[in-house]
Amino acid sequence: MNKMLFSKISGMAVGLLLSVPAFAQQAQESSLIEKGQYLAVAGDCGACHTAAGGKAFAGGFAVDTPIGRIYSTNITPSKIAGIGNYTLEDFEKAVRKGVRKDGSNLYPAMPYTSYSKINDQDMRALYAYFMQRVIPVDDKAPETSLPFPFNVRLSMAGWNLLFADAKPYVADNSKSAEWNRGAYLVQGLAHCSTCHTPRNPLMAEEKGKDLAGASLGTWFAPNITSDNQAGIGNWSEKDLTSYLTTGRSDNGSQAGGPMLEAIDKSFSKLSPDDVKAIATYIRQISPQSINPTSEVAVNPRPEISEIAIMNGSASEGARLYEAHCATCHQTSGQGGNGLPALYNNAALRRPVADNAVMAILDGLTPSSGQAMPAFNNTLDSQQVATLTNYLFKTFGDSKVQTTPERVKLLREGGSPSPLIAIAKYGMIAGGVIIILLVLGAVIFFSRRKRMK
Ligand code: HEC
Ligand code: HEC
Ligand code: HEC
Repeated sequence: MNKMLFSKISGMAVGLLLSVPAFAQQAQESSLIEKGQYLAVAGDCGACHTAAGGKAFAGGFAVDTPIGRIYSTNITPSKIAGIGNYTLEDFEKAVRKGVRKDGSNLYPAMPYTSYSKINDQDMRALYAYFMQRVIPVDDKAPETSLPFPFNVRLSMAGWNLLFADAKPYVADNSKSAEWNRGAYLVQGLAHCSTCHTPRNPLMAEEKGKDLAGASLGTWFAPNITSDNQAGIGNWSEKDLTSYLTTGRSDNGSQAGGPMLEAIDKSFSKLSPDDVKAIATYIRQISPQSINPTSEVAVNPRPEISEIAIMNGSASEGARLYEAHCATCHQTSGQGGNGLPALYNNAALRRPVADNAVMAILDGLTPSSGQAMPAFNNTLDSQQVATLTNYLFKTFGDSKVQTTPERVKLLREGGSPSPLIAIAKYGMIAGGVIIILLVLGAVIFFSRRKRMK
């Protein structure tokens, strides 16, 4: 055989042999990246790591916490400003354990206490996505500078010892595969507990009160355990899946604020199977009776007389309602034409009035369907309080009321609630104790070394 022809043919054969596995590998890699992209959506990484109007994942989004403002970091694969130099191990340590490549601790504003549940395969997929698909951005995110003692990142090491358990999710074989998938997502990537679980004075999620309801400073994330009265035990699976995918459900609930944002950016983009799995798990969470929602239909729906409003004998609350709200929600709060009823609306049966106030101040802008305008600039704090109290009295739980002072606080955007103020002082004391503990341990071990 001609020597040249032989080498050509054998070269082609070798090329073919080489390219088949290379092609398979490439396909595998791109499906890994796609999976990572899906998981990044499930984990809502973009919500915190993208500043308003900023480039995707370039950080700079301010997370307001009771100890001060924490900026999210640039997690694009930029080698100058992002995590381009992170190995899979470095990435895993940051996401699951809250420790940076340089060994410093992250603040738990990054939900690593939830992400610790992410398994190794998913970690690899997330890493592949961030390194290979996310566009690198070379702009540095603003630095976080907290007051002492919180600027000592090492104090978080003590906090982690007390509160973080960096163990991936372990399946419960006595439950269905669907329940386990739901548990994996809820406890991990979807981090529902970050908002819905009450926190102790050191800002750690309270053990044994999983998803029993908590204030986020402005919005209140309600009890979503299976308790019939306090939680969502009487929601059907369809109520829950439709709420998680559209922000609305047939039982008359609409999502607002941070929940609406999480639905728009994350939960609505999950596969129907994953949403169903989340619902299956959530509906079996052990019931908790704290932060109760009041019962439906306390009073019969009032027939509010337009004549009373017109001849001026109506209360100031009724007048504000008629002037600003009745066009959409109707005079007797009955809603209609795709607009929700306020009579017995879930927002008016919460243990606190904050969500109704927040909805009035900021409005609601779901990505599809009708929006509610913001009244931040139209109504002052006294008017919002009067109107909110009227709503609770007339259409909801008349025991729940608010004050102009509270409205003013909420208007100032996440000013800490009294509860969080207590938590703040608790945390300063706790932070100092933790630093002392860490210092004590360092001194103890260094002495021991010297004694040897
Ligand atoms: C609730 C907000 C929030 C969400 C959601 C969130 N992060 Fe973060 N993340 C932060 C904040 C804030 C920091 C910086 C904390 C600090 O400075 O201590 C951070 C830091 C990080 C770091 C460390 C970067 C560095 O500079 O070392 C990585 C990596 C990271 N996040 C990845 C992710 C991934 C991946 C997801 C999604 C699975 C995610 N984050 C979701 C808030 C968030
Ligand atoms: C960023 C914070 C945040 C996260 C994360 C979050 N929620 Fe929420 N959730 C809220 C807030 C705030 C409300 C109240 C919304 C309102 O009143 O309009 C809420 C409301 C709800 C409700 C309605 C309850 C009722 O009684 O009307 C359900 C159900 C719910 N969330 C389920 C979940 C599930 C399941 C997850 C995780 C897959 C989750 N949430 C993650 C903040 C959050
Ligand atoms: C242009 C029509 C429109 C007007 C005017 C309007 N709303 Fe709404 N409102 C809506 C829509 C639409 C929703 C539900 C949005 C959704 O599905 O996310 C809503 C929801 C609500 C909710 C439930 C919020 C939650 O988180 O569940 C409350 C409370 C409320 N409105 C009160 C008011 C009050 C008080 C006024 C007058 C100051 C008012 N609305 C004016 C359209 C309107």
